[in-house]
Amino acid sequence: MLVRLRIRRYDPESDEEARWAEHVVEVEPSSRVLDALLEVQRRHDPSLGFRASCGHGVCGSDAMIINGRSALACKTLIRDAIADSPDDDLATITVEPMRHMPVLRDLIVDQQPFFQRYRAVKPFLVPKDTAPDRERLQTPKEHAEIADATNCILCGACVSACPILGENPRFLGPAAIVQAARFVFDSRDVGLQARREPLDEDNGVWPCANHMACTRACPREIKVTRLINLTKRELGRARDQAEV
Ligand code: SF4
Ligand code: FES
Repeated sequence: MLVRLRIRRYDPESDEEARWAEHVVEVEPSSRVLDALLEVQRRHDPSLGFRASCGHGVCGSDAMIINGRSALACKTLIRDAIADSPDDDLATITVEPMRHMPVLRDLIVDQQPFFQRYRAVKPFLVPKDTAPDRERLQTPKEHAEIADATNCILCGACVSACPILGENPRFLGPAAIVQAARFVFDSRDVGLQARREPLDEDNGVWPCANHMACTRACPREIKVTRLINLTKRELGRARDQAEV
């Protein structure tokens, strides 16, 4: 079948501002949007810039806006992406770079600010004692507390979807909070105090207003908003204990 890809393009060396480019490509309904982009790059315009690596929803590198929603191109089937196209027209799929991240070129965004926030929450185990001879063990029940957050692939789709970041670009953002939650709720971690500076400040967890756009956007089906709320509650508990 033929589909029209409408792609937001921007080359800092030749474009004063972003523009739209259209390409009609032949794909299967069961192909992914990533296959259509690769087809454009191979047969229409090799200068099209986008990130992708694993092709299977694991590396998190091909998050973008597809038909207005944050998603992974490798996990979005053509038949789903064209579901809302009118029957009497050539089906069109609109592709744009992620929001709330500076565009470097075409669909490639600058991930530096994203990873700065990730690093700020200390995304590693802060243990209470020195390393034991064997690994630090956890019960299945303890692991269940962090299992959801461990599924994060750092794709940034939740950040791109977050309406709060549109109003307040200094908000820490959902992905960094998920990473914090991954360790805050780990039975072997005692690092909440060390993470309070990025989390428990005006632009930390508190600007989140439960829009749930992050949860809807997450390709790993992580309950992002729930983890943000649990982290808020944990920070509140730590404050109460500090005051006793
Ligand atoms: S929480 Fe989900 S959407 Fe956000 S970075 Fe992790 S995997 Fe991507
Ligand atoms: S290419 Fe790795 S997640 Fe899509």
